[in-house]
Amino acid sequence: MSKDNKTFYITTPIYYPSANLHIGHTYCTVMADVMARFKRATGHDVRFLTGTDEHGQKIQTIANEKGVSPQEYVDDVVKGIKELWETMEISYDDFIRTTEDRHKERVQKIFMQLYEKGDIYKGEYEGWYCTPCESFWTDSQLDENKGCPDCGRPVSKEKEEAYFFRLSKYSDRLLELLKDEKRNFLQPEARKNEMIAFIEQGLEDLSISRSSFDWGIPVPIDEKHVIYVWLDALSNYITALGYPDKDGELYDKYWPASFHLVGKEIVRFHTIIWPAMLMSMDIPLPEHVLGHGWLLIDGGKMSKSKGNVVDPVKLIERYGVDALKYFLLREYTFGQDGNYTSEIMLKRLNYDLANDLGNLVSRTVSMIDKYCGGVVPKVGVGTDTFALELRDIALSRAEKVEEEMDNFKFNNALEEIWILVRRANKYIDETMPWVLAKDEANKSKLDEVMRNLAEALRVISVLLYPFMHTTSSEMRKQLGLSEDINWEDAKSFDMIGGEQVQKGEPIFPRLDIDKELEDMEKMKAESQDSSEESVDLELKDEIQFDDFAKVDLRVGTILEAEKHPKADKLLVFQVQLGTEKRQIISGVADIYKPEDLVNKKVIVVANLAPRKLRGLESKGMILFADNIVDGKETLELVTTNADDGNAVM
Ligand code: MSP
Repeated sequence: MSKDNKTFYITTPIYYPSANLHIGHTYCTVMADVMARFKRATGHDVRFLTGTDEHGQKIQTIANEKGVSPQEYVDDVVKGIKELWETMEISYDDFIRTTEDRHKERVQKIFMQLYEKGDIYKGEYEGWYCTPCESFWTDSQLDENKGCPDCGRPVSKEKEEAYFFRLSKYSDRLLELLKDEKRNFLQPEARKNEMIAFIEQGLEDLSISRSSFDWGIPVPIDEKHVIYVWLDALSNYITALGYPDKDGELYDKYWPASFHLVGKEIVRFHTIIWPAMLMSMDIPLPEHVLGHGWLLIDGGKMSKSKGNVVDPVKLIERYGVDALKYFLLREYTFGQDGNYTSEIMLKRLNYDLANDLGNLVSRTVSMIDKYCGGVVPKVGVGTDTFALELRDIALSRAEKVEEEMDNFKFNNALEEIWILVRRANKYIDETMPWVLAKDEANKSKLDEVMRNLAEALRVISVLLYPFMHTTSSEMRKQLGLSEDINWEDAKSFDMIGGEQVQKGEPIFPRLDIDKELEDMEKMKAESQDSSEESVDLELKDEIQFDDFAKVDLRVGTILEAEKHPKADKLLVFQVQLGTEKRQIISGVADIYKPEDLVNKKVIVVANLAPRKLRGLESKGMILFADNIVDGKETLELVTTNADDGNAVM
């Protein structure tokens, strides 16, 4: 509970503007947004903060590489991030940038507060130093070969002067905080145990300044140093409220935060460093920190170098904001990692949104149009068991959703709403309005059914509002209802009647999943082509000699080449490989004309498992190598003058 029952302060992490945000980043922001909307709908005075974490060596290095100042660089990326949140209709109340004066000045004051408390001292920071990059790294940041994660070159243990925060001093209080069952500071439970174990191993004091780069907030007592990331970043949650300025009206009203939502890998900073800083400042701690899981692709991290980053903007352009929000909240369980594939997403959209909800809306509105002259009948719920069951389910939903939302179980909350959606669809099958309509004697029964369906949809529109407000409004428009939404209205089954319905477009059209998957592949390739950051080709993960030795390379001759009849990006080759003629398909139609490739002698991966591409079998792979031409990634056909039939390996 908040200090004042009615205020609710929720935050997302502040994102690094080191690249454009991907769908994984949007996950946390969508959760915070929907929670903020839900709390507003249920009568809370909400403050929702997000922002960007703009200092540090990494940003400085990227900006240098691009030949712009760090400020110019972050301004540009942050503009894109703000546009993304606007597209996603994220209802934040404040967006804090750590490069803003209001933040910088307040962070310096916070530094002084900790310093005057005796919790900051000057010492020596020891880390792994990469001389060419002028960068310090920690053990865990080094690459697989214990080299510099940026350039791969060897690093050496070096020391530099730094300011330290006496984190160790707060170990006991931190343990007490985390172990306090009633306080429930950190959720989920599993992360709590990890943190307790981490503290029990012994906390070291935290280095909070650097002198090896200067893109940061200057240490107020020593201009050679800048404040190192975490002290700068974590403070955003209070500097955005005006702390420690005297007229901190927002701070007085909203601090302590109700919830900090953070990804699992930064839970440690939020449940150890952040409370210790606040303890040192003698100000209240946030009520709860919630660590969410990650969206994974094929069980691994999304990353630019793997080329598997999913761009939320592309998904929104194609399926709409509400579909994306619904998918993120319905598919994944808070606190756990979850796998993302386009197919999982498309199935959700088809089954839940197009089939269940979309159909219910269009069937109901069409039937009211057809059987009731387009006006929702002004009658009561009726007395038959189907109607009463539908009403009872509708009436119990809001409370169930509230319960689930109080535990951040977005997926269960949506499931509770879908219980009603599905029950209403079943009600149509049970009552068979098209049969009732055949006999005038059934008119009052038919009116009842129509009214009950419209009433169920009205309740659904209220419940859905925090999750998908555009869909909710569209449903209300089609039902002839006003856009004014009051959460408490979801607790009545006796409000509708007399509205003029308006048939509209299907709220979620059914998708052809195969076609969508193919188009998404194209979109992915296009976005990689147009990505400015592909100027430097990043190497894929290292493989071992044994992995490579499994590949059987042969020389072949392309006999025929033509476009794939069903896929614009694919070319279909007939290749002579020794005595065998094979069909091989490659995704290079954007780069090569089929006629230019006939008679080329090429290298073929001969033992690649066959697979079907848009209905045609491809057996093997013709080698193309990655290259950059005019700053753009492209593919070069690997050719040879050898006679075909000769194995090269
Ligand atoms: N700047 C710090 C946070 C400082 S908060 C005081 C930071 N930034 S970040 O941009 O790297 O990450 C921001 C958030 O995005 C983290 O909570 C992280 O867990 C989340 N995610 C990044 N990739 C993600 C997924 N693939 N899936 C879900 N969340 C992911 O850390």
